[in-house]
Amino acid sequence: MSLSGRVALVTGASQGIGRTCALRLAKDGATVAAAARNQEKLNELVTKITAAGGKAAAFALDVNDEDQVKSTVKAAIAQFGKIDILVNNAGITRDQLVMRMKRADWDAVLQTNLTSAYLCIQAVMSSMLKQRWGRIINITSVFGQMGQAGQANYSASKAGLIGLTMAIAREVGSRAITCNAVAPGFIETPMTAVLSDDFKQAAVKQIPLGRVGTPEDVASAVAFLASDEASYITGHVLNVNGGMLMG
Ligand code: NAI
Repeated sequence: MSLSGRVALVTGASQGIGRTCALRLAKDGATVAAAARNQEKLNELVTKITAAGGKAAAFALDVNDEDQVKSTVKAAIAQFGKIDILVNNAGITRDQLVMRMKRADWDAVLQTNLTSAYLCIQAVMSSMLKQRWGRIINITSVFGQMGQAGQANYSASKAGLIGLTMAIAREVGSRAITCNAVAPGFIETPMTAVLSDDFKQAAVKQIPLGRVGTPEDVASAVAFLASDEASYITGHVLNVNGGMLMG
């Protein structure tokens, strides 16, 4: 198993893409620290991983709370000895046309999607620097690359994550720590379940592969970037969008 001996911290692991990433990393041999706010859902995930012969633990975490980020990373390192892989996946939307967007909705999205990634990276960094090995994977979005009407806050946060990814890749590359982003297109998860069927059908028309993506499609990209196979890839944005955006 390609990730055997590695420890991965996944934020927003209670559902959707984060949960599937946690399952995939565990299947590939990593010990998983699954973090999100919903302890009950996390416990169910940990039970599933453990039942399949994997190793995992749940950590209740609101990524907007700096103290909780620090204490979660500390607790995970106390339990598992280190963190090798960080998947910054937690994210929200608060969609509205910019004319009507409330400042609170701008702040909440920037805080949860972008600032939290900075906080998590900062918290795990000394563990990665010490061992001179690390994988940081930020889940951005195709809308951070091309923009989306009604999502000024979300698009800005996801574009910001790409800038953060490249800056961190440059800062820590000399210590064999890579930092990459995965940019999903339209993925079937609770986040997109709320969209109307009309919107979904119109979206699929823009996707050359002719289907929406699955959380597994994203998890495969994350598992690859976390592995030794990807050791010469850093500062990269890996599109998982069915061809929705190319070039
Ligand atoms: P989701 O809504 O199903 O899951 C989001 C996860 O983030 C949940 O586990 C939630 O509890 C967690 N989360 C939100 N706020 C949090 C907080 N303050 N503290 C801790 N955890 C928090 O969404 P989905 O679709 O699984 O999204 C995962 C990531 O993928 C997000 O960053 C999203 O922006 C990104 N993405 C999703 C796409 C899609 O089509 N579903 C497309 C492109 C990117």
